[in-house]
Amino acid sequence: MKPSILVTRAVFPDVVARLSEHFTVEDNPDDHIFSEAELIQKLQGKDGLFANPADRISAALIQACPQLKAVCNMAVGYNNVDVAAATAAGIMVTNTPDVLNETTADFGWALLMATARRVTESEHYLRAGKWQKWTYDGFLGADVHGSTLGVIGMGRIGQAIARRSMGFDMQVVYHNRSRLTPELEARANNARYLSRDALLQTADHVVLVLPYSAAVHHFIGADELALMKPGATLVNIARGGIVDDAALIAALKQGQIAAAGLDVFENEPAFNPAFLSLENVVLTPHIASASAPTRRAMANCAAMNLIAALSGQTPPNLLNPQAVK
Ligand code: GLV
Repeated sequence: MKPSILVTRAVFPDVVARLSEHFTVEDNPDDHIFSEAELIQKLQGKDGLFANPADRISAALIQACPQLKAVCNMAVGYNNVDVAAATAAGIMVTNTPDVLNETTADFGWALLMATARRVTESEHYLRAGKWQKWTYDGFLGADVHGSTLGVIGMGRIGQAIARRSMGFDMQVVYHNRSRLTPELEARANNARYLSRDALLQTADHVVLVLPYSAAVHHFIGADELALMKPGATLVNIARGGIVDDAALIAALKQGQIAAAGLDVFENEPAFNPAFLSLENVVLTPHIASASAPTRRAMANCAAMNLIAALSGQTPPNLLNPQAVK
């Protein structure tokens, strides 16, 4: 008998078809958002879970689904999964690294450019019919070329962002849990390691790409924002919760920093409505990896992990090998 799986949210039909060759699949083409209780109910008798980063896979859910053997997240980030609880229950957890590095780095740049050069703010002005004449000081922004880029979280995506800065003649400073090798620093536009606070004081544009964990909750709060240069730009393509959104709103209101570009928010898809009243912020709905080829590659990667996990192989992107020891 084929193993049974749940695909929690709508996903490419051909990926569901691929999964159906290996599994009895319950999918969700209408894209309902299930409560934890509904997920638990649907997971009874299921061996695998094809999850979305918006699904919360808690310790309580894991405990309530004794047959579950694998949780395969269609995302590189996996802070939505209680990995420790999954490991203790012998459940494999996987993510989708690498396939999204370049696309996500492109989007970090899109937000950085849009934010520093006030692209959406000026477009809103034009669309509102307010553009009556050219002015010498209309929408003056910050230069990107020749400036100092600060990358917090210098993993694969952070390094891809840093590499792109060569074309803009930028200096790169970075902060990371551990220093890169000299070879990797050289490839990342000769990135220079700094403490978080020194980076915030040095960079003209700061991009956050670090993974979320409780240890970095509000890693950028009022005190850290106060360290940034007055004309600085902050971009967050990492996870909501890394930035204290209320503190950021206060800093943007006071002009403490020039602007922010945000793809992720605390409590998303809900977010602090005060952002909407600010002009100096570019807001996008968690789409950094959303190019058509990359989202498809992520879905296929999650499917490949699930197929391996439930056929007795080690999934290529297994996060918790201890689960199967
Ligand atoms: C998206 O946010 C991801 O973690 O892949």
